Amino acid sequence: MVKKGSNVEKFMKIIDKEFLMESQGTRIVKLTILVPDIAAKAKAGQFVVLMVKEEGERIPLTVVKADPVKGTVMLIAQEAGFTTKLLAQMNAGDFLYSVVGPLGHATEIKKYGKVILVGGGVGIAEIYPVAQAFKDAGNEVTAIIGSRTKELLILERELKEASDACVVLTDDGSYGRKGFVTQALQELLEKSKYDLVYAVGPIPMMRAVSLVTKPFGVLTLVSLNAIMVDGTGMCGGCRVSVAGKVKFSCVDGPEFDASQVDWQELLTRNSVYTEQEKHICRLHNAG
Ligand code: FAD
Ligand code: FES
Ligand code: MG
Repeated sequence: MVKKGSNVEKFMKIIDKEFLMESQGTRIVKLTILVPDIAAKAKAGQFVVLMVKEEGERIPLTVVKADPVKGTVMLIAQEAGFTTKLLAQMNAGDFLYSVVGPLGHATEIKKYGKVILVGGGVGIAEIYPVAQAFKDAGNEVTAIIGSRTKELLILERELKEASDACVVLTDDGSYGRKGFVTQALQELLEKSKYDLVYAVGPIPMMRAVSLVTKPFGVLTLVSLNAIMVDGTGMCGGCRVSVAGKVKFSCVDGPEFDASQVDWQELLTRNSVYTEQEKHICRLHNAG
């Protein structure tokens, strides 16, 4: 863990900041952070847990890109509540209070054959490093990316570069095809045989992906966004049930076989702090 106040505190400097989109009361911010130890080790599928300020909470964010030479990692965060809004207010030159990582198991990268990656909303940022790694391993990669509207779509160019084919959808038809990522997924699976589906997005989207792929018997992995506190298996906050067994998403995951996940439990547990989250936003007038 790199912590502010230590003799390596310069390692949590924000080197670069850019808003990827600002629309409909939300923003998605891209931050490049100097954390050489993490940048040297991070692999596709892993995440960090960071604290913006000393008195703040910990939040997990996926390592979207790691540059071991420059010692930087790229994080992409959508403003969801208090802490992500606070993070989006930070600027290049500022320091984060703490960054822990890389955490979680890296995605198993090997030649599966034909792979479909499905990203919804900010989940597009989370499938991007995995798409690149699968492509580099010689897989035929098809990306399906979707957002509610054109303004909310991110990383289209990057996903097109990292895949052999890329289907873009918006819920309202303002860009790409009109519809949901699951429709495009269903069509692809009906036309051809695929060896792996990998999906990241809101829980209802990942659950719907799981329902679509089940009849085709194709292995489907999802990266679960369970609520995490320490990120090291100590607090139990990220407890999920997979194949009827208790798993901790931070140390056993975050990727799991979608067909084995207890989705209803995950939905319920993820909304446990909704009242407190609203309260803290009201207190700080942040949302
Ligand atoms: P709040 O108002 O506190 O919460 C909004 C919602 O976010 C909650 O209802 C809950 O569902 C979820 N949430 C809140 N606190 C946590 C927490 N500590 N851990 C997990 N979920 C929480 N988001 C991104 O925008 N980009 C990413 O790359 C990304 N990667 C993630 C990787 C992992 C492994 C996990 C578990 C989550 C990831 N998330 C990512 C989700 C991100 O952590 C939450 O959006 C963030 O914690 C919300 O905090 P908040 O205080 O801004 O919002
Ligand atoms: Fe505490 Fe996983 S975040 S056990
Ligand atoms: Mg919060």
